[in-house]
Amino acid sequence: MEVTESTSPTKDGGRHTKWLNPMAPRLVAIQNLMADHGVIFVSINDIELGRLLVLMDDIFDEKNRIGVIAWRGSADNNPSRIQVEHEYIVCYAKDSASVPQRWTTPDDEIKEALLEQYEAICSESQTLTKRAQAWRKLVTANKSSLGRLGRYTHLDDQGPYQVAYRVHNPKPGGYRYGVTPKGIVKPDHAQSYALPLNGYRFPPETMKRHIDEGRIVFPKNRDQIVQMKDYLKDFRGTLRSVINLDARAGSYRLKTLFGEDFDGFRYAKPVELIELLVGAAGGKDALVLDAFAGSGTTGDAVLQLNKRDGGKRRFVLIDEGNGEDNYARTLLAPRLQAAIEHDKLDAGFTFLVTGRQLDRKAILGLERNKIAAVICQTDRTGARSGIRRIDKKKWIIGANQRGEALALVWFGSANSKVDAEVINEALKEAAELGLKTPIRIYGTTCTISETRSFIFCQIPDEILMALHLEEDERNQDEVLGDE
Ligand SMILES: C[S@@+](CC[C@H](N)C(=O)[O-])C[C@H]1O[C@@H](n2cnc3c(N)ncnc32)[C@H](O)[C@@H]1O
Repeated sequence: MEVTESTSPTKDGGRHTKWLNPMAPRLVAIQNLMADHGVIFVSINDIELGRLLVLMDDIFDEKNRIGVIAWRGSADNNPSRIQVEHEYIVCYAKDSASVPQRWTTPDDEIKEALLEQYEAICSESQTLTKRAQAWRKLVTANKSSLGRLGRYTHLDDQGPYQVAYRVHNPKPGGYRYGVTPKGIVKPDHAQSYALPLNGYRFPPETMKRHIDEGRIVFPKNRDQIVQMKDYLKDFRGTLRSVINLDARAGSYRLKTLFGEDFDGFRYAKPVELIELLVGAAGGKDALVLDAFAGSGTTGDAVLQLNKRDGGKRRFVLIDEGNGEDNYARTLLAPRLQAAIEHDKLDAGFTFLVTGRQLDRKAILGLERNKIAAVICQTDRTGARSGIRRIDKKKWIIGANQRGEALALVWFGSANSKVDAEVINEALKEAAELGLKTPIRIYGTTCTISETRSFIFCQIPDEILMALHLEEDERNQDEVLGDE
């Protein structure tokens, strides 16, 4: 899920409240939809990070905070005091006790499968040259399904490896010495390879050990910097708190699918970023919801992951569009279709348009669970902070932020009468749950007058009123349907 910062003018004292007010019920609605073992990722920049964490601690509970990731994706070239090059991804569980203690990624599994293949190659081929040829052939043939592991194309007697720039010091003040294939020399030695701008990240003794172990790769020309071998056996797919991934990959992907000139969406996330999150936090059969789907990166990522590990993940993507620009129809769906065709994926999706499904007749035709969900989405006491859904009770279905209970009597439109017996049982349930009165009891008719301990909410009028649908009910013929 991706939310943007407050756009209210900075002189407006209530601007953060204006941002928080719509966020709260949306987060509660999403929490209600999550499986017990589900997790939510929210992408946010530094402007609203603090408030988002307070809000999410409140809704999800601090104990369910899994962590905060810093994603460094861009270079900020605007002169300012602090140049911002990263944003955040906040992660909460619905119930952290139901989420595995350790997340492994699909890449960890692919790594194991690749190492098994490597063993097979070793037992079939005697010489290193033959093994290296067989290995390269294998990786090249499977490149499209290996993702970042497709970079491990080299082989030496320690196993498969990729060549990576890992010797530089990230900031000024690194170690300054010269490096040759025979060992360490003075920085200005004639045989020495180029010194990285900030020096080396490890001391000369460590570099010497790496050279002796054959881990350093010497380029053809001495005016280049040496590189390091990064072995497949050391690869860890773990989700880390800092992710370095070029943000431009998002628009490059759209250009790959729609052509170089495509410039129709500015905020696409890199597919690889969402693959990392979904791959780590969800099983192979995960159901992934992105309620702010934009160009559909989440769907693309789910398709790519399934292709790589044979998973059966599914996605539900929602976008309201932006005025005339209906992204879902003009971008999201065509992008998924283009991804399926471009990558020859054995996948598909259904495109649905929401209409005014909730007319009087449709509401009266709902099953108990569905009408309970609708009430928790629409009840007027949840307008600011949402309604917390309560399952598996005979009458109580939710609670508002004041801790007052919501109850439902539903045996179809003809038999959903609220009477004294139901009210007493519902009040007892509410007390057991530690909830307050007045409880709001939904049903079709009520045989007794309201008291201070309960308020009768008539179905379907209360729901239609909350949705402002009561006035034009006669025109309710558009329903949710396939396009
Ligand atoms: C920043 S974009 C998401 C980009 C997406 N992660 C991607 O990689 O393409 C946010 C999207 O949320 C949509 N949006 C904003 N408010 C919404 C709402 N209330 N319901 C559904 N979609 C909404 C906007 O139309 C926009 O496409």
